[in-house]
Amino acid sequence: MPNFIDLKDLSKDQLLDLISLSLKWKKEPYPNFMNNKHVVLIFEKPSLRTRVSFEIGINQLGGKSYILNEKEMQLGERETIEDTARVLERYADLIVIRCFGHNQLIKYAETSSIPVINALTDFSHPCQVIADLITIKENLGNFENQKVGWFGDCNNVLQSWIEASALLNIRLYIACPEGINPDKETLAWAQDRNKNIIVTHDPLEAAHGANCIITDTWNSMGETDPLPEEKFIPFQVNEKIIKLADKDVIFMHCLPAYRNKEVTSEVIESANSVIFDEAENRLHAQKAIMQFCFN
Ligand code: CP
Ligand code: NVA
Repeated sequence: MPNFIDLKDLSKDQLLDLISLSLKWKKEPYPNFMNNKHVVLIFEKPSLRTRVSFEIGINQLGGKSYILNEKEMQLGERETIEDTARVLERYADLIVIRCFGHNQLIKYAETSSIPVINALTDFSHPCQVIADLITIKENLGNFENQKVGWFGDCNNVLQSWIEASALLNIRLYIACPEGINPDKETLAWAQDRNKNIIVTHDPLEAAHGANCIITDTWNSMGETDPLPEEKFIPFQVNEKIIKLADKDVIFMHCLPAYRNKEVTSEVIESANSVIFDEAENRLHAQKAIMQFCFN
């Protein structure tokens, strides 16, 4: 079943194909391959970009979308996840899920006879990172040996970034406070493939000569035990960090951004910032991801 759960489930070629197809359909007409396809989207958490880019993407490709929000559907609450999956597969052709527990998503996908897309869990956010990679390709041209500095929390977006960096040989420097770390198992898997995935508590090391600087909120949706804010302050992306990077560095953020927390307003508004191109690329990425699932 061609589910889209995590980037590490893909081969390098599959990941590169997704990026190329997204870029192709950004420029050229796309086929109506979702004519008469029905997509159910389950959102247990809020969303602006993911929800709207999926709905518009489905619409543009000729399909129909049905949203279930957190009031209508919390996976495993009113009935088991397995029963939900076995009902929805009788109506729909594709399921997109944003939920808290990654295991809930896996359980759903294991039961479902129709493809399932991960639209963010507490563990990973692969759709976002496809859009990020498209933005890198557009601005930096290639992936091999680019230095990407990640600043702040070790969260779901970082998880998918580690997986992508392992596949594409990106030099990923993760600058995070002491007391938090990326998922141990994933890090071991990734460092086995790419020695240049480095965890540091020194923000300057991650910034130095970087081609791309990324951050995300210090407090993700559903986080029950966040580190105190003062621990994150040294990892704020500000002018000092940008000045240490390559002169053509790009700044990315999946959004929503908390201005003057994880990133200053000055950096968001600077010429280095490509955050709204990155947000636009969510739309192009979703189309290629859905095509992957129907292939
Ligand atoms: N970046 C992202 O996933 O945004 P939303 O939470 O608004 O979907
Ligand atoms: N890490 C953030 C990403 C939001 C798109 C969160 O999970 O809240």
